[in-house]
Amino acid sequence: MDIFEKFDLVEDRTLGYGHCGRVVLAYSKKNKAKQWAVKLFDDQSDQGEKEKLKHLFTKEVKIRQKLNHPLIASSCVALKYDTHFAICRQFYPNGCLKEKIKSVTEEEAERYLSNISSALHYMHLKRICHMDIKPANILINSYNEAVLTDFDLSMEIPPNVQKWNSYGGTLAYLAPEVSNPHGCDPFKVSFTSFYIA
Ligand SMILES: Nc1ncnc2c1ncn2[C@@H]1O[C@H](COP(=O)(O)OP(=O)(O)O)[C@@H](O)[C@H]1O
Ligand SMILES: [Mg+2]
Repeated sequence: MDIFEKFDLVEDRTLGYGHCGRVVLAYSKKNKAKQWAVKLFDDQSDQGEKEKLKHLFTKEVKIRQKLNHPLIASSCVALKYDTHFAICRQFYPNGCLKEKIKSVTEEEAERYLSNISSALHYMHLKRICHMDIKPANILINSYNEAVLTDFDLSMEIPPNVQKWNSYGGTLAYLAPEVSNPHGCDPFKVSFTSFYIA
């Protein structure tokens, strides 16, 4: 279904940018009081880029369907946006951790770490690795809890696989052990606690 049938996009209210394009605020046509965040997998003129975005979109939709946890950002529906794709999500007015990282208190840092650990534990039980943990992919909910988002780089690790050597996350946040040419345990890769602390 085309996104414009269901939502009015507020094109000048960009909530954030990432490697897939941007996330904009939207209103549901049915219930105009309800706000949503729509991730637009922005079209590229280059055919290779188009294919890459399609792949990321498909992966994010597939992985999200398998996840249902209070500390994992929920999505409502995957839609077509002109010639490309969009995913509609619950809107988090407090934004992402990257925006408030400098003002995080010690108590909040402790809580956020515990929240993200719970979300990751849940994902790992399903053998899904996030692969791109960083402040821009952590949203803050109305209870001031950290909620994990952005699953387009996530991987489902097949049963019995203990070592993994294909990591595509954000270079600045990759755990050092990821550079081991013999691979590393994808469920034990450290994350950016040092950054929040
Ligand atoms: N549901 C949301 N509510 C509010 N802001 C959001 C929401 N989802 C994403 N954002 C903002 O948009 C940015 C990019 O979203 P993300 O899903 O990480 O896209 P990408 O895959 O392109 O990195 C986030 O860093 C955050 O600032
Ligand atoms: Mg992101």
